[in-house]
Order: sequence, then structure tokens, then C-alpha cells
Amino acid sequence: MVRDSKHRYGLDPRKGLLMHSFAGTTALITGSSKGIGQAYAHQLASRGADLVLVARSAEALEMLAAQLRETHQTRVVVLPVDLFDRAAPQAIANTLAEHGIEIDLLINNAGMGAVGPFLPRPLTPNVDSVDLNITALIGLVHSIGAGMLERGRGGIINVASVAAFQPMPFQASYGATKAFVLSFTEAIAEELRGTDIRVMAVHPGPVETSFFDTTTATLNPKAVSPERIAAKSLDDFAHGRAISFPGGRSDRAIAFISRLISRNRMARLSGNVNRRAGHDHVRDIASPTTG
Ligand SMILES: NC(=O)c1ccc[n+]([C@@H]2O[C@H](COP(=O)([O-])OP(=O)(O)OC[C@H]3O[C@@H](n4cnc5c(N)ncnc54)[C@H](OP(=O)(O)O)[C@@H]3O)[C@@H](O)[C@H]2O)c1
Repeated sequence: MVRDSKHRYGLDPRKGLLMHSFAGTTALITGSSKGIGQAYAHQLASRGADLVLVARSAEALEMLAAQLRETHQTRVVVLPVDLFDRAAPQAIANTLAEHGIEIDLLINNAGMGAVGPFLPRPLTPNVDSVDLNITALIGLVHSIGAGMLERGRGGIINVASVAAFQPMPFQASYGATKAFVLSFTEAIAEELRGTDIRVMAVHPGPVETSFFDTTTATLNPKAVSPERIAAKSLDDFAHGRAISFPGGRSDRAIAFISRLISRNRMARLSGNVNRRAGHDHVRDIASPTTG
């Protein structure tokens, strides 16, 4: 196992293999109070990483931190932050610097999305999703990535979605935010090619989380567990992949098919899938600003 700081999850110069170990690294995970982010926290703690947990729900983060400290002796810092705030990414970087914490792995996982037809429904959750899925994400890549650039090493995992590969009627702004994450991540990965800063996009399909809890929209019955998404995507990152499809096999197929048929046809297909799921007539059952 390679333990020196430069190759903690990189190429083993002796064996030419990529290692699975995250031991000795410090990872910052956004949206770690529940869902996929919480699963990343458990996975990384079990693989020996120290953690910085970011989300708004301070109590949930503290409970998770206590559990991880007890089970894995993980060092965990809790940062209750609202990432809708444009100043948050730099404030997080400043707080980390004040405490002398260097982030080896940034996981931009926090995300939300409006569901339902765009025009008759409130605008706010759509705009919120742009703020969280795009503005906060690029802000954190910039503010946390600056330290990686200085040290000459690091890793960034951006959680996108299979929604990134096609227009998504009835989740129109959500799909568009994830298309942004896909394009941005691929571009940054190319800018950093040849350096020891590695960047990967993760594209889950449906996952069993509370993502749809604020509306009557229901989860796809083929949804996989958040634990699977976290474990498989971390394995992919450890193997040096630039893209990860950690869910079901059909997720990769969607990305492939979207290259073969026209955008119009792809929009029609995904619109029909979302109509069948009832996303064309959802109602709110809680605050529309979270999810
Ligand atoms: N579930 C799926 O089917 C699915 C499929 C593909 C991709 N994804 C992507 O996977 C990621 C995680 O989704 P999930 O399903 O795990 O969602 P989730 O269960 O709803 O969890 C979302 C997380 O984001 C945090 N968050 C929301 N708004 C925030 C804000 N303003 N500031 C800071 N943190 C905030 C939430 O914590 P607080 O509420 O405590 O702030 C929570 O920890 C998202 O990027 C999502 O787009 C999900």
C-alpha cells in the first residue's frame, strides 16, 4: 500500500497499479447530513480518511460525526453551512485555513432539484438548484482547489447525474444543472491532466434517498442504495477513472444512447419516462426549497 502523501490514491510507482486506500487523507463532503453524502462519509471513514462534513443540519452532522468517531476513530470536523450563500465556499476555505486543515479530496455532493412542469410551478426551487448545484460547486472547486494547486496534489469528485446527458422535461432546470456539472468537470479534468490533481464526475441514476421527499413525485422502483453509489464511485476514483456510473447498468446505457440519437428525440424519450413517473403533475408536500 502506498502511504506517502503524493500517492495516497494515485499510481503506485512500484506496481503500476492504482490503490484503493484513502487512509491518511482528509475529505470534505458537502451534503453529508443524509443520503449519498452520508454514505460517502461512512465509506471514507471505513477506508481510513478524516472528514469535514458540510450541510445545513448541524444536529444531523454532529450525530453522524459522533458515530464515525466511535466506530472508526475518525477525526471529523462539522461545518454547518448554507451553500445557497454565495460567500459560503470562500468562508469554508478560510475556516479550514484558520484551523490548519488541508483537504485532499473534495466531494461536491450537495444537490437538489425541482420536479414538475416548469411554467405553472414556483420559480424558487429552480433558482435554488442553480445556486447549490452550480454556483456553490464551482465556488468550492475554486476555493478548495486553490490549496490543492499550491500543494500540487488532490482529488475532486463532483456528483452529477445521468440527468446530465439529456434534456429532462419535468425536471428541466435540474437536468440542466447536471449538464453543467458534467461539462465543467470534464473541462477542469482536462485542464489538470498531467498534474497530481485528479477530477471525476459521478453519474448516479435513481438512488434511494429523500431527494423527492418535498413533492408527491415518487422514487423509481429501480433505485439503488446510496451505499452502493458511494462505494463504487470511490473505487472508480481510486482506479483513476474520470467518470463513474456507480448505479445500475442502464445508467451507462442512457449516456451512450444520448450520443446516438437527436436531442429532440432524447427529450421526447426522457419526457415520456417522467410522464410515466407522474412528474408532469406533482404537488408540494413540504418546503419546495430543499430536497
Ligand atoms: N437521489 C437520486 O436519485 C440522485 C440521482 C442522481 C444524482 N443525485 C445527486 O446526488 C447528490 C445527493 O443527493 P441525495 O439524493 O443524497 O439528496 P438528499 O438525500 O436530498 O441530500 C441532499 C444533501 O444536500 C444537502 N443540502 C441541501 N441544500 C443545501 C444547502 N443549501 N447547503 C448545504 N447543504 C445542502 C442536504 O443537507 P441539509 O438539508 O442538512 O442542508 C443533504 O445532506 C445530489 O447532487 C443529487 O443531485 C441524486
